[in-house]
Amino acid sequence: MSGSFLLSERLEKYIYEFGVNETEVEKELRLYSLVEHSTTSHLQISPDQSEFLKIIIKLGNYKNILELGTYLGYSTLGMALTTSGTITTIDKDDRFIKKAYIFWKKSNVSHKIKFIRGMAIDEIEKLPLNSFDMIFIDADKTNNIKYYEKCKSLLSSEGILIFDNVLWKGKVSENTKDPKVLKIKEFNNYVKNDNYFEISLISIGDGMMLCKKKNLK
Ligand SMILES: C[S@@+](CC[C@H](N)C(=O)[O-])C[C@H]1O[C@@H](n2cnc3c(N)ncnc32)[C@H](O)[C@@H]1O
Repeated sequence: MSGSFLLSERLEKYIYEFGVNETEVEKELRLYSLVEHSTTSHLQISPDQSEFLKIIIKLGNYKNILELGTYLGYSTLGMALTTSGTITTIDKDDRFIKKAYIFWKKSNVSHKIKFIRGMAIDEIEKLPLNSFDMIFIDADKTNNIKYYEKCKSLLSSEGILIFDNVLWKGKVSENTKDPKVLKIKEFNNYVKNDNYFEISLISIGDGMMLCKKKNLK
């Protein structure tokens, strides 16, 4: 999700200017989405979120990354530019993938990216266990609990699981009957009560949840 519900336009501009190191092609892709696909461009993560993912990849030296939810491949591109490994990215919709490949190729990273078209819930069943050291979940929010449970077995022991949109524009703190918000709240509660991961819920973009396996002794 582009932009943060917490930031003023002025502060967002400041952060983008000082805290974002997009390549020309990343910027081109982000702006292409904004201009040519204005009704769906909000789907892509914000540039500061992308920088955040890049730092996480560098800190963990993550090499085998799985992404659920490709859209136009903006988040995929940032991660591919950063890892020395590979990214498997899954989307049910391949309308945008030709265009995404143009940007990926232009950045010389297309060889690192494997796109799988399909329903995430089915496709993740076919993936090898314990094989990903970072999983970024940014697809439909209704299946988050199922993705979470499956990803426990896909993740390597030192891996990190990251969910986007966990604050849903801040609406998770409201007393609401909106079914979408209730789904996100249900998911957040589920993860907390599961007590399987150390979690960090941060207010970047639309809210991201970081899950790292506890060091059980
Ligand atoms: C929020 S967008 C992904 C944005 C992308 N990560 C980025 O930041 O550039 C969500 C994507 O998930 C896809 N999607 C939604 N439900 C899905 C499902 N059940 N299985 C696979 N993909 C799904 C949509 O087609 C859409 O492209």
